[in-house]
Amino acid sequence: MAASIKVLITDDIQATRDNIRKLIDFHPEIAVVGEAADAAAAIAKAKELHPDIILMDINMPGMDGISAASLLATEAPQSSIIIMSVQGEKEYLRQAMTAGAKDYLTKPFSGDELLKTIRQVYANAQQRRKVVAFEAKAEPGTVMTVFSAKGGVGKTTIAVNLAVAIAAKTRQKVCVVDADLQFGDVSLFFNLLPRTTVADLAGDIEGLDAKHLAGYMTRYDDCVDVLAAPLRPEQAELVTGAHLSTILKVLRTAYRYIIVDTAPAFSEAMLAALDEADQVLVVSSLDLPTIKNIKLCLEIMDSLAYSGEKIKLVLNRASSEGGMDVKEVEESLRRPFAGTLPSDGKVVVAAVNRGIPFVVSHPDAPVSQSVFNLARALAVEDGRQPAEARGMVFRLKRLLG
Ligand SMILES: Nc1ncnc2c1ncn2[C@@H]1O[C@H](COP(=O)(O)OP(=O)(O)OP(=O)(O)O)[C@@H](O)[C@H]1O
Ligand SMILES: [Mg+2]
Repeated sequence: MAASIKVLITDDIQATRDNIRKLIDFHPEIAVVGEAADAAAAIAKAKELHPDIILMDINMPGMDGISAASLLATEAPQSSIIIMSVQGEKEYLRQAMTAGAKDYLTKPFSGDELLKTIRQVYANAQQRRKVVAFEAKAEPGTVMTVFSAKGGVGKTTIAVNLAVAIAAKTRQKVCVVDADLQFGDVSLFFNLLPRTTVADLAGDIEGLDAKHLAGYMTRYDDCVDVLAAPLRPEQAELVTGAHLSTILKVLRTAYRYIIVDTAPAFSEAMLAALDEADQVLVVSSLDLPTIKNIKLCLEIMDSLAYSGEKIKLVLNRASSEGGMDVKEVEESLRRPFAGTLPSDGKVVVAAVNRGIPFVVSHPDAPVSQSVFNLARALAVEDGRQPAEARGMVFRLKRLLG
């Protein structure tokens, strides 16, 4: 069998390198293409030999494995790094993974462990690179950013269900970007376990195009893909506003609709998600603290010179007990609500806990109908989607296969 997985071994101890080479030698599908005794040599060899896998000791004289991993992420982005360490270096390992390593091995490891890890990391990389057939699109897609000045008002609930409703309505490709970089939970709402996240994508942003980007998406169904939030809050800082702008621009070339879920803050990354948007859906509820913050939020958006057309107010949990009068709130905010979702804890919370969007699990519930109405209003205003050919229930059933 011809060797298909090229491995570079980096360790300052010759005996360790020899040992690893021996373990790999029995397996014809894996080939050791080079060895390096320090990080600088590893970087030079990685650029020359283009290995699929770099096995790298975490502790080496000169540059350590963590610094080398983060340099290699830009110098040799096609190579996946597996860090090797001895017991008791947990904090180092965490840093190495954040720096871009794909997996780790604790010394001493068995031949089985080594081969299993190499094969798994290689398979994951192949999966990421797998070219998903994107339809050629004449026009760029529409970016809709769901934002609020308050946490917990229903941004994720609306982003997720709106995405599925728009996909069901238009049968076009829709992507949900989880830009709540610290505590994003879009994957949870869809019951997905992402292999890759926006943090991985940010580390591979150079020359990004639609085909490359496809490897970072997590598929929900035929029409809806998810770009997941980082798995850990500390990885949020790996994603800058500039990264998000680039990602959204490229997503426009591959998806008809891009729905961006956000964190409740005017951070650099959130501003990028707002700037890049064609439509900003500002989510409010009927309580005084939220209204006060939404008012401030709208003032800031005015000062950013966002057009009135770009911003749409959405009222969530409109029927909550003890809420304020809708008309008064609209007057106070000086604009009408473009969409209103009733409060329905039974349907909404049950759907989240099962990981099924409620527009799918309860398409006839009033809260689902309100999301379909919002989808219709936003898509119709956009004016580019094909006319609905059949009823919503039919298309939803088709969407579910
Ligand atoms: N219309 C609704 N009726 C009943 N419960 C709702 C409704 N909308 C949202 N919820 C519930 O409110 C909670 C918060 O919703 P969600 O996570 O969507 O808010 P968020 O704005 O994304 O929060 P965060 O700022 O933490 O990201 C969830 O438990 C959700 O199930
Ligand atoms: Mg949320």
